[in-house]
Amino acid sequence: MPRIICVASVKGGVGKTTTVSNLATTFSKMGYKTLAIDANITGANLGLHLGTSSRNILTIHDVLKNNIKIKEAIYKHSLGFHVLLGGIYLNDLNNIDLSQIKEKINSIKKEYDIILIDCAAGLGEEALNAINASDEVVVVTTPELPSVADAYKLVEYAENNWIPISGVIVNKEGNDKFKDITVNDVEEILGKKVLQIIPKEKEVEQSINLKKPVVNLFPESKSGKSFQKLAYSLIGKDLNQKQSWVEKLISFFTKY
Ligand SMILES: Nc1ncnc2c1ncn2[C@@H]1O[C@H](COP(=O)(O)OP(=O)(O)OP(=O)(O)O)[C@@H](O)[C@H]1O
Ligand SMILES: [Mg+2]
Repeated sequence: MPRIICVASVKGGVGKTTTVSNLATTFSKMGYKTLAIDANITGANLGLHLGTSSRNILTIHDVLKNNIKIKEAIYKHSLGFHVLLGGIYLNDLNNIDLSQIKEKINSIKKEYDIILIDCAAGLGEEALNAINASDEVVVVTTPELPSVADAYKLVEYAENNWIPISGVIVNKEGNDKFKDITVNDVEEILGKKVLQIIPKEKEVEQSINLKKPVVNLFPESKSGKSFQKLAYSLIGKDLNQKQSWVEKLISFFTKY
């Protein structure tokens, strides 16, 4: 059964795109047919994180203008997963019909095991259309009170609309006792489980700069391990659990 997972937040810059690029890489390595979609229509930058930004590609913007079929704008990334990226120019935003996101994604859903949606920050029209197109939402926050308080609105919206929340990611954890609130506080405020804490690390910044996910560039770093653990916990597995022979076989065949 395919899963459409929306990675969302109300506050901007908390790490949604970083999470999507790292989850897509890890899920693909695990052998899942994965598609990463940039649904941050006004601020599309997943391609920058993945080193695939180009003037010459078809994008989700072309799809939402009804110019092309969604399949025409899906490309295979060298890390194994598929991507549907966004346009980066102002005039890409002309004549976009956001209400079509759900129908377009549903039309290719059965071809994937996991579809990750990189959502725009906030609860504006573009974010709500992406959230409503999803089967579940992963909420990203930093360990700061304003970010967590904002995240509560997202939890409320999802619950009011019967969209399950798979859990919360606390990103950029810096153990700053003057600024950071605890994971227990996050869970208490949001009433949701924290799936993973991701440390604030220079390796993440460096890997974004080098346009490669940290799980690929520095898989043994704390943040690299944390993103891998997150992927495993989203599918109910433990990172340290050995792969079964069936999984090894699937990984082998999807690689070649
Ligand atoms: N774990 C981390 N450690 C250090 N820096 C991080 C970490 N996660 C994200 N960042 C930094 O935060 C910046 C914003 O991350 P990202 O683009 O993933 O956020 P976003 O939630 O997608 O933002 P937007 O709301 O604008 O779409 C990155 O460019 C990176 O420099
Ligand atoms: Mg983003």
